[in-house]
Amino acid sequence: MRQHRTFPRFRLLGSLLLVVAAGAAGLGAAPGGAAPGGAPPGGTAASAPRPLGDIVPAPASVRPGGDPYTLTPRTRIHVDDGAREARRVAAYLADVLRPSTGYALPVVDDDAGPGGIRLRLTGREAALGEEGYRLESGRRGVTLTARTPAGLFHGVQTLRQQLPASIEEDTRRRGPWQVAGGTITDTPRYGYRGAMLDVSRHFFTVGQVKRYIDQMALYKINKLHLHLSDDQGWRIAIDSWPRLATHGGSTQVGGGPGGYYTKAQYKDIVAYAASRHLEVVPEIDMPGHTNAALASYAELNCDGVAPPLYTGTEVGFSSLCVAKEITYDFVDDVVREIAALTPGRYLHIGGDEAHSTSHEDYVAFMDRAQATVATYGKTVIGWHQLTGANPARGALVQYWGLDRTSDAEKARVARAAQNGTRLILSPADRLYLDMKYTKDTPIGLSWAGYVEVRRSYDWDPGAYLPGVPDSAVAGVEAPLWTETVSSSAHIDLMAFPRLLGAAELGWSPAASHDWEAYRLRLAGQGPRMEALGIDFHRSPQVPWRTA
Ligand code: ACM
Repeated sequence: MRQHRTFPRFRLLGSLLLVVAAGAAGLGAAPGGAAPGGAPPGGTAASAPRPLGDIVPAPASVRPGGDPYTLTPRTRIHVDDGAREARRVAAYLADVLRPSTGYALPVVDDDAGPGGIRLRLTGREAALGEEGYRLESGRRGVTLTARTPAGLFHGVQTLRQQLPASIEEDTRRRGPWQVAGGTITDTPRYGYRGAMLDVSRHFFTVGQVKRYIDQMALYKINKLHLHLSDDQGWRIAIDSWPRLATHGGSTQVGGGPGGYYTKAQYKDIVAYAASRHLEVVPEIDMPGHTNAALASYAELNCDGVAPPLYTGTEVGFSSLCVAKEITYDFVDDVVREIAALTPGRYLHIGGDEAHSTSHEDYVAFMDRAQATVATYGKTVIGWHQLTGANPARGALVQYWGLDRTSDAEKARVARAAQNGTRLILSPADRLYLDMKYTKDTPIGLSWAGYVEVRRSYDWDPGAYLPGVPDSAVAGVEAPLWTETVSSSAHIDLMAFPRLLGAAELGWSPAASHDWEAYRLRLAGQGPRMEALGIDFHRSPQVPWRTA
């Protein structure tokens, strides 16, 4: 259970400490070790390309060999004739590569001659699946092959990471821009690889969300879960209940102005995420975590009295009124309007920490709320407390327990899994990005303990919960709760580098899981994150290299 203290002057203090921490970072960079293939990791020598496969997440299969490919001012990006979606991926790639190389990199629709960068969509190659790709690199060119635009897009992220970190700079840099020779064939372990941003405790603008989306895409994350409502704020316009946003969205933790997304802004986020092959999973948390809604409409309260807005960080004190029929009108309207804005498959209905709802009421409420989600054509996701009610057929359950969670609770989740409910794993003492790394982390919480980079990475989702087979795991998600997180600099510090570990747990085969190898590949991402302006936690567990 999330039990939070309040942090009156925390944000200012946190920002100051963040500046100090950033200033101190980088001084103690330790030497790197061997990377895959035994070459120096990270392509540190300007003349040697980064070893093939020295990327995050680790690819499923790497066969290095042959000469590297070198981008030149004459390089063109070729796409299959007429493949519009491949062309979009090619345009994205060109946008990544042009500023730092200074090359024109025209995108051309042709098949004329070998050489250059080639993006190929093919209906064959069933083994590449929905998101896989193959990258073949040699002296004459680099070819990416996939069955889907998403596969090509993930291949582009691999190509990008094989290039020197300075490729990420937004002004012209010196090459050479080389990609090591050989073949990568890569498919994900799990289809659900998510990150959650809590935009309720602190509101984040569309621009801030897009920045995080771009960061996620680099590591092949494919779900953005937005926690759109909680006690402290309602963050999405609902036409049939306008005060949810205008009143319920008018503040946040600590009493700042809050905010909400208009429908156009939410659609803009959804479209931007789709352009990065991420699916948005909207969450409206119910029946608890609803003070912002209860404060906006007196009639939603059992006693008919609207509570004041809430800007603290306690949990478990609010509940929709399960006995009132208007509650279900509200749920229907909200679910209908959000489903209509959301092309993705899922609608998350929360269901956690309903401590002010009786068990009987909880079960009755979740039954009706799940039926409403189905009515509007979406698949339910709920926090794992839903396994204490009746998870709908096909629902996904998001596990956020920790080592000390009781055996009985773990067994209840395992029984649901054995009965066909698939799980998203977000163990709080592994993947909650709001947990402090150490006692010295300037922001964050610690109710689940301190979670350093190794602890966050070093576990196996497929063998994590007793009685839950790998086949019952849909994937992993790293949630970022924002009681103490209020800026993009804060997101950078808490999510990076742990988000990369979550991405690797979701993508890479279990057989490649190895902390010693991972920490070296992660070290190679330091200069890349720096080039992208990501002010990450310089964990002493990682032998960071400087650019
Ligand atoms: C949660 O952390 N209450 C899902």
